[in-house]
This record gives sequence, structure tokens and C-alpha cells, in this order.
Amino acid sequence: MQTLSVELGHRAYRIHIGPGLLARADLVLPHLAQPRGIIVSNTTVAPLYLARFSDTLERAGIRIESVVLPDGEVHKNWETLNRIFDALLTQRAERRTTLIALGGGVIGDLAGFAAACYQRGMPFIQVPTTLLAQVDSSVGGKTGINHPQGKNMIGAFYQPQLVLADTDTLATLPDRELSAGLAEVIKYGLIRDLPFLEWLEANMEKLLARDTEALSYAIHRSCQNKAEVVAADERETGQRALLNLGHTFGHAIETGMGYGVWLHGEGVSAGTLLAADLSRRMGLLTQADVDRVSDLFVRAGLPVAAPDLGYDAYMNLMGVDKKVEAGRIRFVLLRELGDAFVTGDYDEAALRATLTT
Ligand code: NAD
Ligand code: GLY
Repeated sequence: MQTLSVELGHRAYRIHIGPGLLARADLVLPHLAQPRGIIVSNTTVAPLYLARFSDTLERAGIRIESVVLPDGEVHKNWETLNRIFDALLTQRAERRTTLIALGGGVIGDLAGFAAACYQRGMPFIQVPTTLLAQVDSSVGGKTGINHPQGKNMIGAFYQPQLVLADTDTLATLPDRELSAGLAEVIKYGLIRDLPFLEWLEANMEKLLARDTEALSYAIHRSCQNKAEVVAADERETGQRALLNLGHTFGHAIETGMGYGVWLHGEGVSAGTLLAADLSRRMGLLTQADVDRVSDLFVRAGLPVAAPDLGYDAYMNLMGVDKKVEAGRIRFVLLRELGDAFVTGDYDEAALRATLTT
């Protein structure tokens, strides 16, 4: 097991990464304010891991209840959030009861937002079971739901007490979901860690073959990058926005195509290629750089061609992006591979060309 820390003063917390962690009640116990937890999961993950994890905790004397939600991005909404509140009230959850998210990013974002709101805040633990959630969404405290007009538009910053990433759970993850997670892994290399990007180029086949050592390394290195950025800029007033490389376009793709049609990681992949193309048109990247980025996403099993939603639809969807300032869309662009920046100062003609060619 490897352990990292997200340094946020009195709200600092640990990320444990390794095999067999669903059997480790000892890692959870010190973080419970009372010997009681409510696990939030979904209809896909619960049959795989809920009984095993509940047993672990119950054997350690923790009272465990659960709420099992429908699976899918399309359910990351008010209605599903309310089902968590209904369960918390029915089960008489108290302010010191811990809410535990067992699942991918959708469950983590929903449960985290519920924890932030229920009785104005209850303790919360992340147990991510997708690669994407283990490398990104379970760390950093962004929680929330989608609105029909925009991804993740309603939410709160609310940090967990602990992140428990059991790498054994990745064995049951569908290939398409593994690839989606790799999009966020590649992101760290592109925005701030060129040596990691080079490592990914050398080890992509191992990752796709689910080589345990390679996956653990990639998760650890991704979390290290994320933890550093979050510790420096928890509320995204500056450098945290770099974690949004490809997301301005990607969120537009997810919303425009209908939630769940394109996976989040797939939108990030095609969106990153649009950001790279815009960077090239602005004289920052070379065509060879763009091809290099494209090759890596393709090798990861990800789409690199964005759907043709039309220029107006893209602009309309991106107009609600959380980085918009004074009505101006701001993009994360690449100065060079391994070095990203945020700007609202881009060439309109270049953006139009990126979105239409
Ligand atoms: P997801 O939660 O929908 O999980 C993907 C699929 O895999 C689902 O069908 C799920 O039931 C299934 N699954 C989960 N674990 C499994 C396992 N071990 N074995 C088999 N199947 C399993 O999607 P995701 O990619 O994990 O997360 C995407 C979401 O995360 C998006 O809503 C995105 O906006 C959000 N996100 C949030 C942050 C953040 O900082 N909060 C960062 C990135 C993404
Ligand atoms: N996934 C983007 C962030 O956590 O800031």
C-alpha cells in the first residue's frame, strides 16, 4: 500500500492506494466520529463489492447501512441526490454518521454533495472503484450534480476524511471505462509532468493489460499531482483550473450529446485534442506535438475526433463553463507539452477553425 496526503491544514487527509484495501477496517476506523457508516453505491458496484466491504466494517463493530442508486451519468441529478437524503432521514443518520461513497466518479460526486448538505455537513469517505475516480474525482473535494444545461453546475467543495483506493476493484472494470480513466491520467502529464507523459508513452500497453505495478504507479503519480495542485489552490482561484485541460470542450460534448452517451474521459480526450489544436493555431504547439498527443490518446483506446455539434452549439454550451469570466470563455491551453495555462485571450478565428474543421 502507498499513502499520500492532501495537505489542507486541519482538513488534511490521506489517500491510500493498493490491493486488498476493502478488507482493511483498520484504515477506516480512526476516521469515524461514531461507529456508524452509510454506504452509497449503485446497482453495478453494489453486487460486486458492497457485501465484502460492509462485512469488513461490521466485523470491526461498525454499524453499516446502505443506499443503492441507479447507475449512470444520466442519474447524476437532483432526483438521485434526493434519494440519498431520503435514505439518510429514513435511517435517522446523525450529523456524526459517516457517508461512504463506494463507486466511480458519479457516486463520489453525488455522495460528496449529499454529505456537504445533509444537516449542513456530515463526515465523508471516498472508496473509488474506477480508474478515473482513483486518479482524479475522489481527491480534491469537488462534489455535485449535473444540470440539463451544464455538467457539474450545482455542487460544493467538500473534502473527504479519507480516500481508500483498492486497486483490486479495477479487475472488474470494463475496458471502455479503463480507457476513460486513462484520459485523466494523461492529463497530468500534459499539464505539469512531462516525465510522466514520457513514462505513459513507454508504458501504455502495460496499463491497458492491467499490469498491477504499472497501474499502481500511474494512480500514485496522478494522485501526487492532484494532491499538490489541490493543496496549493483548493477553491480553484488559480492553478487548479489547469486540471480542466480539455474539459471546457469535453463538458460541452457530454452535455450536447446527452449525459452518458460520451463517457467523461472520452469527452476529455476529444476535448484535449481541440485544446491542443487551438494551441497549435495560436503558434504555441507544433503539428508534431499535436500528433504526439493524439497518438497517446488513440493508444489508450480513446476517441480523438470531437462530434460535430456545430460552432453555435459548442459556444452556447461552453458559455456556462465555470471558468467563464465577464462573459468570456477561458480555455486551458498548452504552451508546450507538460506546461499548461489558462487564458481568455485567444484568437476568435482560430477557435472557430478548431470547432469547425
Ligand atoms: P462512473 O461513476 O459512471 O463509473 C463508470 C462505470 O463503471 C459505471 O457504470 C459504474 O457503475 C461502473 N463501475 C464502477 N466501478 C466498477 C468496478 N470496479 N467494476 C465494474 N464496474 C464498475 O464514471 P467515472 O468515470 O468513474 O466518473 C465520471 C464522473 O466523475 C463524471 O460525472 C465526472 O464529471 C466526474 N468527475 C469528477 C471529478 C471531481 O473532481 N469531482 C473529476 C473528474 C470527473
Ligand atoms: N477534476 C478537476 C478538479 O478536480 O479540479
